[in-house]
Amino acid sequence: MKYDIKNLTLDEKISLVTGGGSFTLSTANGKLKEVIMADGPHGVRACREGIDVKATAMPSLFNVANTWNTELSKLQGETIAEDCIDNNIDILLAPGTNIKRNPLGGRNFEYFSEDPILSGAMARSYIEGVQSKGVGTSLKHYCLNNYEFERLVQSTNCDERAIHEIYLPAFEEAVKAKPYTVMCAYNMINGVYATENKKYFDILRNELGFDGVIISDWGATQNSARALKGTLDVRMPYSTKAKNEIKAGLEQGYITEDDIDRAVLKVIELIEKCDVERKTSTTVEQRHESAFDIASESIVLLKNDDILPLNAKNILLDGRYKHEPIVNGDGSSDVTPVNPPCKLSDELKKELPNSNVFCTNLIESPHVKKREISAFYKYVYENAYSSDVVVLTVGTGWGIEGEGYDRDGAKLSTYEEDLILNTAKVNENVVVVIYAGSYVDVSSWIDKVKGVVLAGYGGEEIQRAVAKVLSGSVNPSGKLSQTFPKNLNNSPFTYRGNGHYIEYKEGIFVGYRYYEKYNEEVEFPFGFGLSYSQFEYSNLKVEKIEEGEYNVSYNVKNVSSVDGKEVSQLYVKDVFCHVERPEKELKAFSKNLIKAGEEITVTHKLTKRDFSYYSTALNGWYLENGDFEILVGASCTDIKLKAKIKIELPFETQYSKYL
Ligand code: BGC
Repeated sequence: MKYDIKNLTLDEKISLVTGGGSFTLSTANGKLKEVIMADGPHGVRACREGIDVKATAMPSLFNVANTWNTELSKLQGETIAEDCIDNNIDILLAPGTNIKRNPLGGRNFEYFSEDPILSGAMARSYIEGVQSKGVGTSLKHYCLNNYEFERLVQSTNCDERAIHEIYLPAFEEAVKAKPYTVMCAYNMINGVYATENKKYFDILRNELGFDGVIISDWGATQNSARALKGTLDVRMPYSTKAKNEIKAGLEQGYITEDDIDRAVLKVIELIEKCDVERKTSTTVEQRHESAFDIASESIVLLKNDDILPLNAKNILLDGRYKHEPIVNGDGSSDVTPVNPPCKLSDELKKELPNSNVFCTNLIESPHVKKREISAFYKYVYENAYSSDVVVLTVGTGWGIEGEGYDRDGAKLSTYEEDLILNTAKVNENVVVVIYAGSYVDVSSWIDKVKGVVLAGYGGEEIQRAVAKVLSGSVNPSGKLSQTFPKNLNNSPFTYRGNGHYIEYKEGIFVGYRYYEKYNEEVEFPFGFGLSYSQFEYSNLKVEKIEEGEYNVSYNVKNVSSVDGKEVSQLYVKDVFCHVERPEKELKAFSKNLIKAGEEITVTHKLTKRDFSYYSTALNGWYLENGDFEILVGASCTDIKLKAKIKIELPFETQYSKYL
């Protein structure tokens, strides 16, 4: 450390742990560099002198996760970091890696997945991408931040096993990329605010290995002296109240100057880390291309009854996103794009020069008056009747998905459901493109249409990517990073809590772990997504490295005439155990470009941790000897290959505090 803490007055030290401004750390009266932060995770979101900074609007983390491509998550990080450098930003407040527990969670589009392995891998790569450019990150929101209802006051109550198996591993993996900071959440964890929860800070530092600065979410700190005592490093943003609380805490002897110094030393270390020269290496145009590349791989083809790629003469394009898309969700992650996002209508015309792509100039919004709708309906349906194919763009939007509120339901608006159903009555070739940042209940119309494409919240280049998927010049390769259940009628996840607390009673059974355990039928399983190629899986080999550790390999062949990318998934099933375990759990995945007719070999390593569960009796990871299955699939329900193994570890090596 270059700067000596002894040169700081007590007031300056207090300022360093209570923030300098809305998005800056204190400079301790100009003695240290000013560190500037800005939101992520979908691009730079900042405001300068009352004007929004314009930046590359990247796909949402929902989309990034649907690529199942860690290289693209890294690219997302690198691209945003370049915009940070242009805007003098030292720390990007991203990524969020909370587990999507409730399909109606308002910020699901800002998180990666319902699965810890996928979330962790994506978050780690994202951080590596940002920090490779010398810009810091803030991994958020630590932890158990999975809903918006009463987010500032409600306690998320959860058992230790689920915390360790479901909610912490993504943070653990992400921390391996050494994020400069971790942002702790608004909610309480088991009755104690996340900002002052020493137990979970200790776990973060001692078990997960985090050695950077812990900052609070904006305004999350109830009392700054209590938070400092709990070992929070910086309370954000600046507030005089926070300073006074610290001074009062010192006067009362509740905290000591040593407590302040502990945090100050970390903050100085952070400020010095940010004091570097950074240079961009891409143009704004190249960043648009990165947004396009990620968007292209994030699109999930959910249904295709021989309708896609489009090959029709007259194509009617309608619905509210037929021109501009919804770029991203509402709240702190909203980015103002540099260029206006491209229009689907224009892009589709470019992609299909031999077709007649036309739009009915129907109402853009579902809020138009009923009388107007009926006039338009007649017009739309007459056009739909005389077209060869109808592409309908539907989805959620601001006011439905956003920070600060959860969704009320997962269905499209009645207006949009009617549009789909009535169009399908007059034309049997309907393709629906969904723009949403999370799960959409498609149950009432899915059987009536031939094609469904999930565009997600795909950033400023999503329409170009959608047009290319519809035309076939991009072969879809996204897969679902979260389950699409049939509906939410039997879901335990949609209960919001009583305003004081919410109990995560389902424990470790979150996402597909829940639907599989309780045999709940799902519409589209976790890991599902179609392609214009077909793939065959074969030759699963499991070779023991040592007891409890294996090299796994298998082949995937593209048996079609179209080049394509396939996401293959490796799951482990514990066949017999003395504690409840999920039917299967994702342990590894791989996304590979496989040329038409080509066969590739995919390899993975499984370690003891992949077979262990978190034992609350032992407070650590325990591998119970016995039978396990290694399952390789194209989704969590489409298992193609299976191998059986038996693990017989000597008893003294079955348990480990950390694995
Ligand atoms: C959000 C954070 C964000 C912060 C700063 C909070 O409301 O929860 O994700 O980074 O604001 O904008």
